[in-house]
Amino acid sequence: MRKKRQKQKFPRVSLPLIAAGVLAVIIAAFLMRQDAAGRPVTINGVTVPPAPALSASKVAQGEGLYAQYCAACHGANLEGAPDWKKTLADGSLPPPPHDGTGHTWHHPDGQLLNIIANGGSPSYNSKMPGFSNVLTEDEMDAILEYIKSRWGTDEREFQWWVTNTR
Ligand code: HEC
Repeated sequence: MRKKRQKQKFPRVSLPLIAAGVLAVIIAAFLMRQDAAGRPVTINGVTVPPAPALSASKVAQGEGLYAQYCAACHGANLEGAPDWKKTLADGSLPPPPHDGTGHTWHHPDGQLLNIIANGGSPSYNSKMPGFSNVLTEDEMDAILEYIKSRWGTDEREFQWWVTNTR
């Protein structure tokens, strides 16, 4: 008799406990995710505020514009040209990737928007065209927002830091 009662008791006590445990793990994972995205960024001893969340509507607008104006050279998936690090015979460089494997995230916003608006430097025969006559500043901003949405947290935070310290 005693054995039977204990057996019945066991699931009644442990099920809510298991449910609470699962819930605690989910909440902890969620809080850690929030923390990774929302923490101040410190590099070389210099701290800047947390990188702000990207605007979903700007990212969506930028995705369409990127496909229309940039994908032909920089790749539909931001992958860049094969061998993009190798200088071509005419001294120019092939289009680099804009995802985390490239170097776009090394540069501050101002420099990137300047290249998008005015094109690459003629000093090395750059084939990057300027878009200031084709796109508005808001549209160029949206494309950059989309590009940022394709970086990992480390690249996003580094580029945010560089934008705020240069
Ligand atoms: C005709 C081909 C072509 C098109 C179209 C083009 N690019 Fe480029 N882009 C290049 C080339 C080639 C380079 C590398 C040469 C250089 O660094 O100047 C480059 C370089 C860049 C760079 C600087 C390198 C980096 O990643 O730091 C940025 C930023 C850039 N492009 C953004 C864009 C954006 C945004 C668009 C669309 C609005 C675009 N490009 C459309 C060819 C193109």
